[in-house]
Amino acid sequence: MREEIEQLRTFFLKELQETGTSLELEQLKVKYLGKKGSVQALLQGLKGASPEERPQIGKWVNSLKEEIEAHCVNTLARLQRAEMFAAFEKEWIDPTLPGRRPWVGRAHPLTQMLHRVVEILVGMGFSVRLGPDVETDYYNFEGLNFPPDHPARDMQDTFYLGEGLLLRTHTSNVQVRVMEREKPPLRVVAPGRAFRNEDVSSRSHIFFHQVEGFSLDRNLTCVDLLATLRTFLHRFLGEECKMRVRPSYFPFVEPGMEIDMECRRCAGKGCRLCKESGWLEVLGAGMIHPNVLKNCGVDPEVFSGYAWGMGIERLAMLHYDISDIRLFTENDMRFLEQFSGV
Ligand code: DAH
Repeated sequence: MREEIEQLRTFFLKELQETGTSLELEQLKVKYLGKKGSVQALLQGLKGASPEERPQIGKWVNSLKEEIEAHCVNTLARLQRAEMFAAFEKEWIDPTLPGRRPWVGRAHPLTQMLHRVVEILVGMGFSVRLGPDVETDYYNFEGLNFPPDHPARDMQDTFYLGEGLLLRTHTSNVQVRVMEREKPPLRVVAPGRAFRNEDVSSRSHIFFHQVEGFSLDRNLTCVDLLATLRTFLHRFLGEECKMRVRPSYFPFVEPGMEIDMECRRCAGKGCRLCKESGWLEVLGAGMIHPNVLKNCGVDPEVFSGYAWGMGIERLAMLHYDISDIRLFTENDMRFLEQFSGV
């Protein structure tokens, strides 16, 4: 019996030496001291011993049990300490490292531009109205005095959706929709998307943004139009910005005109941006055609109106000196991040 006990001690000590983790140690403890463990098995062997031997054997087994317990307690403490330090080593952080800068999102440059334009016009007494992207031929063309054979209705320019519907080719549709419903005096600004079935290039895209503005009242004249646009362009581009007016044609205005602003890059001297002319075309405008007023149930003998429309991509490209319109829709963070603001 004595030998068996000694042998068990030797086995235990050997296994203890091979134990590398606290988990293994717990398992070792169960193996020797658990209810079905080796020490318990030794006690079972007591039954076969004579009554005289029993107390002595009991003592030996108990002292082995105590010895194993003590070993387990000490070794567990040592292993746990080592494991704690290993974890510290692994999870170590350097509090002196610079913090990670939180990434702050911002509005798309076109949205920023649109907000600025609308904000200025709202400050001038215009209120915002929106119209649908999917429109009928009437509001996009016919109501705006487009003759039935006008080239802008051509399949190449307009996305027709069938069932008399199309994607609006400009935001001028809002003119007809609002004048039909609302009574003058009106001062309206209508930002939104427009679509054209064109080849995508650095200068043109199949969809883009426009801001339409118009006013309807008694006695409005070209002077009101020009004063409004001048105030707007000065607030938008700076007081020193010069503008010029060229006659032009749009079916829904008479007279029609285009407004240019002086090229700021070359201060009007002529450069690549302004194609050596010193001027950049920024918007189309005019006095609302009497036919359009009639279409909306407005008497052209009593009321007159002015209107203008401008492309936001174009304004942004001129303002930020962006050479390719496609950059706006590519979602390249290196491009987008250059436009701070809200
Ligand atoms: N709708 C025109 C376009 O998309 C722009 C325009 C020109 C709007 C003259 C107007 C205007 O309101 O009077 O090219």
